[in-house]
Amino acid sequence: MKGVILAGGRGTRLSPLTDATNKHLLPVGLEPMIYHPIHQLVGAGVTEIMVITSTEHMGDVVRCLGSGHKFGAAFTYRVQEEAGGIAQALALAEAFAGDDRVVVLLGDNVFEYAITPYVEGFVGQAEGARVLLKEVGDPERYGVAALDERQVVEIEEKPAKPKSRYAVVGLYMYDRQVWDIIRSIEPSGRGELEITSVNNAYIARNQLQYDVCVGRWTDAGTFPSLMEANTILSANANRILAHG
Ligand code: G1P
Repeated sequence: MKGVILAGGRGTRLSPLTDATNKHLLPVGLEPMIYHPIHQLVGAGVTEIMVITSTEHMGDVVRCLGSGHKFGAAFTYRVQEEAGGIAQALALAEAFAGDDRVVVLLGDNVFEYAITPYVEGFVGQAEGARVLLKEVGDPERYGVAALDERQVVEIEEKPAKPKSRYAVVGLYMYDRQVWDIIRSIEPSGRGELEITSVNNAYIARNQLQYDVCVGRWTDAGTFPSLMEANTILSANANRILAHG
């Protein structure tokens, strides 16, 4: 299994904090935000990790993270030249992944507990994809899952009228089909290759499984959510907690 951390984007909702630096380098708790997804992947046994960021901030990101040695990991870096969506960024990891499956983390997602059980669930899965859901108060900000008794039947990206309160968290696990799927999807209304389109393609193949996230979760893309991310990780003194 290989890991991919997506750390691109302009971080405009956090301006002026992001006027001169990448959102993922801002402090959360005692460390730069991007340390958290690295600790999560390494904790789950995923140590070969590709970090994808924009041209502008690649230098700072490499200076901050180095080879991966200090994390017990090995990093490979790639530049996403234009902001064309999460799925477009992920496509840059195809050759890196080779025949392996991938665990993809959005660099601004913060979890109270270890993601290890969800990764183990995916390891036990014969094929397909696995996503993580979290019940939230403001689902219209996220990809939202419509569920029947057993499965996710549809995911809508930032719907005006969400069909549930279950947000799709920025942790995605895919088998090798993902590369062909990314090639097959069309840009959304906002001109991006959406990760939600990728997940819906797995639903169409009847191959999308999910877990519901235990403990607190947030992204850190807005001022209130950055505050929440700090609260979660400060309480943990930046250690990743095991479940239970
Ligand atoms: C992205 C995804 C969305 C997901 C969210 C989780 O949104 O498009 O489906 O729920 O991450 O953090 P963005 O943060 O790019 O607006």
